[in-house]
Amino acid sequence: MDAWGKRRDMVVHEPDPYNAEPPQDALTDQVLTDIDTFYTRNHGAVPRLDPTTWRLRVDGLVDRQMELSLDDLHDRFDRRTVVATLQCAGNRRAGLLAVRDIPGEHPWGPGATSTAEWTGVALADVLDTGGVAAEARHVAFAAPDMAHDAEPPQAYGSSIEIDKAMGAEVLLAWQMNGAPLPTVHGAPVRVVVPGYIGARSVKWVQRVTAQAEPSANYFQATAYRLQPADADPHTAAPGSGFALGPVALNCAILRPDDGSVVVAGPTQVSGYAFAGGGRGVARVDVSGDGGVTWAQADLDEQASPWAWRLWRQTIALQPGRAGIVARAWDTAAAVQPESPEHVWNPKGYVNNSWSRVVLTVTAAPGQQD
Ligand code: MTE
Repeated sequence: MDAWGKRRDMVVHEPDPYNAEPPQDALTDQVLTDIDTFYTRNHGAVPRLDPTTWRLRVDGLVDRQMELSLDDLHDRFDRRTVVATLQCAGNRRAGLLAVRDIPGEHPWGPGATSTAEWTGVALADVLDTGGVAAEARHVAFAAPDMAHDAEPPQAYGSSIEIDKAMGAEVLLAWQMNGAPLPTVHGAPVRVVVPGYIGARSVKWVQRVTAQAEPSANYFQATAYRLQPADADPHTAAPGSGFALGPVALNCAILRPDDGSVVVAGPTQVSGYAFAGGGRGVARVDVSGDGGVTWAQADLDEQASPWAWRLWRQTIALQPGRAGIVARAWDTAAAVQPESPEHVWNPKGYVNNSWSRVVLTVTAAPGQQD
């Protein structure tokens, strides 16, 4: 394991701040991702907070401002557990980079997403105790880690709409898969916003503010917004484009790996699909001929409305080159867009185009090429 408790074969996009995703094969067939395998995305140096002195300030448009210790959270509120997938808005950016360059952004593969069972208290219960004023429309989260990639450099922060914040699924969490939340994932307490892009799940949270406007923090007002393809992200004004919230329907082929060599015959293709926003994954189609014909994959149960669905399909492959494609449909009958060209944007967010791998298929022993 490395210094952050991650497996040695993580694909490290940056050592400091530490940004890493698991090799995609490691996500296969695990509904809950092991902590040592769970991706991690950090904009600044990882802070080490003392849980005994940590306090959560609850302020803004509330009747009663509060300062809560970890013991207060444990003792004064009901404990809740939610299985939720976190997905970074930059997941699968590598596919957009193949279309056109995106300077200064990490080439995340399909591993910037993972699923855990999170335990803590409902943010709504804490806000209810404070008494939220009717004018509050957003809830902002503030953390102490300094992000030098922000303009100007600033501590990390974000916000979500009040309606989402009052949902029973949004947690202030201190456990992950039944274990204490690791430092790199936000100890002692992080926000978990199921169904929303990972950027809204603020780690090392120290302040929760009910307010009329979205957070003015760089990561809400400027980054993690979808800009049109011709926008210049360096000159785009804060507030331009639109803020990313619910995760767009997505899927990825995890096995076999792109570029691998397989023997002709029945080959199992497997991966994940995630609908985000509390919708369900209804169907996953898999093609062995580049999208000409399709078969429907077998889907595992969806562990919660907030979790991905794993899938697998066996397809017969003939010797030669095979283009394997997968696409998901959600319960609102939305389907993923076909090509990364259609979703390219200057910060490289939300590549939810069809997942594609190309395989070299060799003849089985005794079979003619
Ligand atoms: N919270 C803080 N304080 N600082 C950060 O850099 N990164 C965000 C979010 N919360 C971040 C943060 C982003 S972009 C993502 S995708 C998720 O944390 C990643 O969570 P993880 O590292 O636990 O996987």
